[in-house]
Amino acid sequence: LQSLMCNVYCSCLNQSSSENILEDSFSFPSDFLFGTASSAYQYEGAFLAEGKGLNNWDIFTHEYPGKIRDANNGDMAVDQYHRFMEDIQLMTSLGVNSYRFSISWSRVLPRGRFGSINYSGITYYNRLIDALISRGIKPFVTLNHLDYPQELENRFQSWLSPEMQKDFLYLANICFKHFGDRVKLWTTLNEPNNQIILSHLRGTFPPSRCSLPYGNCSQGNSETEPFIAAHNVILAHAKAVQLYRTKYKEEQKGIIGIVVQTSWFEPISDSIADKAAAERAQAFYSNWILDPVIYGKYPKEMVNILGSALPRFSRKEVECLKESQSDFVGINHYTSYFIQDCLLSSCNIGVGASKVEGYALKLDRKGNLTIGEPTDINWQHIHPEGFRKMLNYLKDRYHNIPMFITENGFGDLQKPETTVKELLNDAKRIQYMSGYLDALQSAMRDGANVKGYFAWSLLDNFEWLYGYKLRFGLYHVDPVTLKRTPKRSASWYRNYIGENIRRR
Ligand code: NOJ
Repeated sequence: LQSLMCNVYCSCLNQSSSENILEDSFSFPSDFLFGTASSAYQYEGAFLAEGKGLNNWDIFTHEYPGKIRDANNGDMAVDQYHRFMEDIQLMTSLGVNSYRFSISWSRVLPRGRFGSINYSGITYYNRLIDALISRGIKPFVTLNHLDYPQELENRFQSWLSPEMQKDFLYLANICFKHFGDRVKLWTTLNEPNNQIILSHLRGTFPPSRCSLPYGNCSQGNSETEPFIAAHNVILAHAKAVQLYRTKYKEEQKGIIGIVVQTSWFEPISDSIADKAAAERAQAFYSNWILDPVIYGKYPKEMVNILGSALPRFSRKEVECLKESQSDFVGINHYTSYFIQDCLLSSCNIGVGASKVEGYALKLDRKGNLTIGEPTDINWQHIHPEGFRKMLNYLKDRYHNIPMFITENGFGDLQKPETTVKELLNDAKRIQYMSGYLDALQSAMRDGANVKGYFAWSLLDNFEWLYGYKLRFGLYHVDPVTLKRTPKRSASWYRNYIGENIRRR
């Protein structure tokens, strides 16, 4: 049944690698998507407009303004709720053929399944979707990108409870029902791996739960909660996929997947111990989510190290996971790290070496070594070769499942002395994108089945803890007027797309 389902559901995507390979030159497949990516909380603003309810990020940024740079929040963000027509105009001028955005859960369901649908929210997304489609831009929709109704935190601690699976399914059903006639590309959740690490291991994102020495919170347990939350996320994803397949797919004919954050982990030496540590780092990062949603089980490295702290899937759940294998995976990718073993060797460098991260130490500049070229932010190093290796690793591990690069981009940290002119003249972003797109082409030549690329991001936007000071946009956004101005990278990307897109 499984292979039959895959024939039915994936055949449109499974393409032999030879189609990607031309003898002398490379060209992207004719249905390749080039787009830009965004998310509701980071873009929409309009935080209590027309019936939207409060979400976890509204509460977090309002109650703990000190946690966000300049005490900023997404109340206004870049006001895409009111300016989407202008933004679609920018997309048209870039020449993209897809736009990745997410649904604000509390705009559609202000109180989750415990209240009524906010039809103004449905209308907003209908208008956005229609406007995109009328300009030849395919909507690529993420059901949930970090924000959820605060009601769900207050009632049952959100992802720590299986109740959250029911709420997610409720949201998914409403979205498929109202938007699925036009949306053909769905992802369930954005980067649950990174979200959970920040929310339940480090505690820097809401609901700010963690325990010492992993982070500084007043509640939570970093040794168990991340794994409980992930378990609920994985099952919620699988159930949403199953819902789509059984109730909507036949009529709507879309495809559905999940988005994970990936980083390439390069062993610091050729030793067996460091190589095994790099594998454990992958296991505890992206394989943590991808193995269950593709193979119905956690990576063996996690099972071995975590023992009973890692929840188990029941037989029924394993069945459900296998039956609801994703049509594709969305890959967010920004950086690489060197990895040092801390299981077989003593490396004694703080929490990075802990059990809950597979005893594999990620070396960034704090660990005194950076892979690739450093940037102003400690988690981003420019290392395109790592992207190529990552895509090949995923190709091999997940039987060449179709992939979309759902995010890739470069952040400029705005310092007090940085001028707007400097921000507009973003040579580093061009260097970054050009290197990473070259690496993508190489990976596709190697046989990776990549179906699209989305730059993060169309506009400078609300970058979570960095507020508005870490700018990822191809367009600069003025903090006061919200005026959008193209950076050099916007015309670079326009040219790149123009040269590489094959219009039918
Ligand atoms: C990935 C997240 O999905 C997105 O929300 C964030 O802005 C970018 N990374 C850049 O940090």
